[in-house]
Amino acid sequence: MKGMLDGQVAIVTGAGRGIGAATAKLMAAQGASVVVSDLDASPSEAIASEIRRDGGKAISVPGDVTNLAFPETIMKATIEKYGMLHILVNNAGYTWDGVVQKTTDEQWNAIIDVHLGAPFRMIRAAVPYMREAAKTEMAAGATPEPRCIINVSSTSGLHGNAGQINYASAKMGIVGMTKTVAKEWGQFNIRCNAVAFGTIETRLIQPKEEGEQITMQGQVIQLGIPQHMRDMMTMMIPLGRTGTPEEAAGGILLLASPFASYITGHILEVTGGFGI
Ligand SMILES: NC(=O)c1ccc[n+]([C@@H]2O[C@H](COP(=O)([O-])OP(=O)(O)OC[C@H]3O[C@@H](n4cnc5c(N)ncnc54)[C@H](O)[C@@H]3O)[C@@H](O)[C@H]2O)c1
Repeated sequence: MKGMLDGQVAIVTGAGRGIGAATAKLMAAQGASVVVSDLDASPSEAIASEIRRDGGKAISVPGDVTNLAFPETIMKATIEKYGMLHILVNNAGYTWDGVVQKTTDEQWNAIIDVHLGAPFRMIRAAVPYMREAAKTEMAAGATPEPRCIINVSSTSGLHGNAGQINYASAKMGIVGMTKTVAKEWGQFNIRCNAVAFGTIETRLIQPKEEGEQITMQGQVIQLGIPQHMRDMMTMMIPLGRTGTPEEAAGGILLLASPFASYITGHILEVTGGFGI
């Protein structure tokens, strides 16, 4: 069967686990050559090998998206291996929660950088392979190939969320970034959309009391949300349950697919109805 992304090349950041891993696998199953990337090299390699084992095409280019040199590194590796780029999914990130009065500058800057600064630098680094590539195709009289960027936002960004001043600000900021890129690059047939997730079963929403940790620049950060918040949020989801990483990836694929060829600047809520 023909895949929806046959012949396309996709970069997915934060693809070592959770939503990013499910997205990389789904895009590969739809025929895309996927550049799997994560802060943690070992899960990044594991997802790329799993895709290859299942007959798909993937390489792993691990690294920290907040490292200023990283966007150039991953673009270079992508072009060296596959020669082109069609889809960029800015998904990597984590939470470092705190109420306003307790949020430090370090906590603020780290979360703004991973969820806002890094996607901006990734998009800017993609200019030669997306915007300029489309311009060259147009100059040759051709219709530019389908290209798109999908940024990951959150209901915390759309509605605000107590205890997430840094994360909510970044996740709303990415909405402005998405719409700006959509307006600037639409003329080159490059679409830019965002997906705002509600509660998706990954380590980010496990009960904080027993949640995992992430170490960023030597700082150990507790992930997860308090159990009572999880319970409260689930009660407010019309579908009555949290989502799976595969369902989240479905929202991303939908926007990357040919069925979304006339959709740009849109924020797709994949939330089970939370917040409507
Ligand atoms: N799970 C949810 O309910 C939910 C809701 C809304 C938005 N989101 C967003 O979805 C995205 C994916 O999160 P997830 O739930 O799959 O979490 P996850 O922790 O399962 O996966 C996130 C991945 O990003 C990687 N990562 C973190 N910081 C990085 C960095 N600096 N450089 C490179 N990689 C980095 C991690 O190593 C991890 O593998 C995030 O942007 C998150 O904010 C998640």
